[in-house]
Amino acid sequence: MCGIIAYIGPKNAYQILIEGLSRLEYRGYDSAGVALLKGDMNIYKKKGKVQELIDFAEDKNTDGLIGMGHTRWATHGKPDDINAHPHFSGSGKLAIIHNGIIENYSTLKEALTRLGHQFVSETDTEVLIHLIEEIQERENLTLADAVRQALSKVIGAYAIVVMDKNNPDLLVGARKSSPLVVGIGDHEYFIASDATPIIQHTNKVIYLEDEQVVEISRENGVEITSIENELQTPVIHELDLNIDQLEKGGFPHFMLKEIFQQPQTISDCMRGRLNATEGWARLGGLEEHANKIINAPRIIIAACGTSWHSALIGEYLIEELARIPVEVEYASEFRYRNPILGPEDIVIVISQSGETADTLAAAELAKQKGALVFGIVNVVGSSIARMTDGGSYIHCGPEIGVASTKAFTGQVTLLCLMAMVLGYKKGVLSNTYYHQLIAELGQIPEKVKEALATDDLIKTLAARFENTNNALYLGRGYNFPVALEGALKLKEISYIHAEGYPAAEMKHGPIALIDENMPVIVIATNQSAYEKIVSNIMEVKARKGIVIAVIDTRDHEIRKIADYCIEVPSTIEPLTPLLSVIPLQLLSYHIAVMRSCDVDQPRNLAKSVTVE
Ligand code: G6P
Repeated sequence: MCGIIAYIGPKNAYQILIEGLSRLEYRGYDSAGVALLKGDMNIYKKKGKVQELIDFAEDKNTDGLIGMGHTRWATHGKPDDINAHPHFSGSGKLAIIHNGIIENYSTLKEALTRLGHQFVSETDTEVLIHLIEEIQERENLTLADAVRQALSKVIGAYAIVVMDKNNPDLLVGARKSSPLVVGIGDHEYFIASDATPIIQHTNKVIYLEDEQVVEISRENGVEITSIENELQTPVIHELDLNIDQLEKGGFPHFMLKEIFQQPQTISDCMRGRLNATEGWARLGGLEEHANKIINAPRIIIAACGTSWHSALIGEYLIEELARIPVEVEYASEFRYRNPILGPEDIVIVISQSGETADTLAAAELAKQKGALVFGIVNVVGSSIARMTDGGSYIHCGPEIGVASTKAFTGQVTLLCLMAMVLGYKKGVLSNTYYHQLIAELGQIPEKVKEALATDDLIKTLAARFENTNNALYLGRGYNFPVALEGALKLKEISYIHAEGYPAAEMKHGPIALIDENMPVIVIATNQSAYEKIVSNIMEVKARKGIVIAVIDTRDHEIRKIADYCIEVPSTIEPLTPLLSVIPLQLLSYHIAVMRSCDVDQPRNLAKSVTVE
């Protein structure tokens, strides 16, 4: 949420900032702005996307070998030009960009107002830069010292960069609960929310820790201190990320690219972890903790959004294959309800970005209470990945479309491997079933390819339903979370109201919504509750609902009764979500395109939700 990029070096900063902001746009796109320093500090900022800023700055002076840029997801203050970052201090000497929320901003604002400060925006961020300037002037401090002192008075979350008009050789950054990465190039340096805008310049990065302050000067390079001004020893990481992974690669949208990447990303997730020919599965990150997990009284999985849907599938997988009780929690609820947790418990946190504020806080809470915290994360080096006791990456590569697709199948693949490994080790998974799971999982990438071949049929269905106002998604067992995920995808990117429901629960409410205009998408690839699903479909048909069924190649009954059928390859039941979700991703994508929605950057959403 909110993207930050800053540059200091021998090149003109503007182009670097603009390219960086375009790469960070998935973090928020309510407004964009830059500050450039050459003699004067020029700030250009515009409501809307980065392109609006580019158009606005076209005839402006964009010189400066130092600068910073921001793309905003609005929290305090509506999205407009004035509330856009960067913000000036009262005198116009300092400027700031910020990701996060200053929770005590109104108290600080009142105190500063009493001292004569006047504010032009409604943001919490402007209060912070006034506070920094007030402290700097009152106590005659260096910029970094003033930042440190100001931050010690702040409650909330922040990743900030501050520039001083009188010092074109200095950038000061700091973080707490919002991510910040420092890039180290050849006599040039970057500060950014994540590595995506840095990678085209350098693969050497330092992840700033909470309550650390970074000073970057042309003369002394990078110096990192704690908020109490103790010198820190930074660790430089070399990233294995290439620029092609951040491009659309010929697809019209990142989301479509990411949907079609899934045969590859699922293979990548299993690489070195599953060998179908030799018949083994292992998960390096799990080995050290496997015995503790097997003997744990229960596992709690905490996550948000699509990752929460994978968590639900994880619950089914781990309970069935490893016979360990699992509870799934929304991270945002879990962290605030004083959960009963102890050293015996295992908490798994699932997060694509590894930065979601609520998931990170849930993990921190679990750690404080002594539980073992295991992370399932995509972004290497992210905050959650670094703070957990153990974990496994899903290795899907950067996911840029705001609606998650390949991360979902990566998470489910990983949870499946985890459940199999734990179940086998625990001795509750028979040798035959274990080897059947390995063989079937090995075939999943090819089967996902076949599922993707439904694309043309789905375009036809999308054209038929693009103007619907509502949709109901039904599934049972492993495919109940898939119903939730299908509905979420449709809501997120096409703004059609959709609900996911366990098929049998339909009778307790949603059935009242069904009439001849209601498309009901039934995920019907399960074998165990097949007859029950048939009955659920009949109940929908009896109320004139339009049934679109996702079936598998073995289906014999549903293809006769559904209005439309989408066929995916068959597999064993625990793996069906990896195939049944594919047509649902494609359906929401095509409907959104037909409705002229902004698929990769849907309104009001952001990819990396670093505020509560
Ligand atoms: C946002 C994104 C979703 C994502 C959720 C959790 O809402 O738009 O796509 O599922 O955050 O994100 P995480 O990075 O923790 O998986």
